[in-house]
Amino acid sequence: MKTDVTEIARGVHRIATFHPDFGIQFNQFLVTDDEPFLMHTGMRRMFQSTLAGVSQVMDPARLRWIGFSHFEPDECGALNEWLALAPQALAVCGFVGATVMLNDFAERPARVLADGEVLATGTHRLRYLATPHVPHGWDAGLLFEEGDRTLFCSDLFFQPGDPAPLTEADVAGPAGVAIREGAKGPLANDIPYTPYTDATLRRLAALEPRTLAVMHGSSFRGDGRRAILELAGVLGEVLGKAERR
Ligand SMILES: [Fe+2]
Ligand SMILES: [Fe+2]
Repeated sequence: MKTDVTEIARGVHRIATFHPDFGIQFNQFLVTDDEPFLMHTGMRRMFQSTLAGVSQVMDPARLRWIGFSHFEPDECGALNEWLALAPQALAVCGFVGATVMLNDFAERPARVLADGEVLATGTHRLRYLATPHVPHGWDAGLLFEEGDRTLFCSDLFFQPGDPAPLTEADVAGPAGVAIREGAKGPLANDIPYTPYTDATLRRLAALEPRTLAVMHGSSFRGDGRRAILELAGVLGEVLGKAERR
């Protein structure tokens, strides 16, 4: 599998691997800084591909922080491989992720971030936002790079296939199509529509991101607030209705 690396915002590198069996991209994001930060580890079985991508940018043994939005193999399956390779590396996540998942799964304890807490990596400041069940998982949380206003938005804005690294065109539209199509297939119900889904998305929109770093599909540069509100509208329409049936 080929891994492509693209700088999508200042010091933010998208490490993209298209997996033909799944027909989707798995994108990790490396923030180069005094204390380099990797958002998502990639799957354990894809570790060599992700490692090759990170190695194009820096010595992977320098990695200091590993963030992930929720406990699933593509988000953090290769965590222990990274902890073994980078002696200074620690995972960062919320209380639930650390207490319920990583305390057993990970070879080293995680650094716990409170909702709203900032992780300073040198020139970048990454704010942690607890987002339970958005996109999914009790432990879900996202990170927001405050300097360039980049939101690492995990599985939100999912687009299938192998699209361009970065687009300024509409991403909410293609993501909406994927949500509607996904609702008919065997992987339906990936995003639960809870009493706090809409409020969580509105909180993310209020950050006014300039770049949306998307885990599966093209990242987006432009009016992130508008794109998130459009996505919230689609989720309310498709999933909110399903909930009420
Ligand atoms: Fe996920
Ligand atoms: Fe994912």
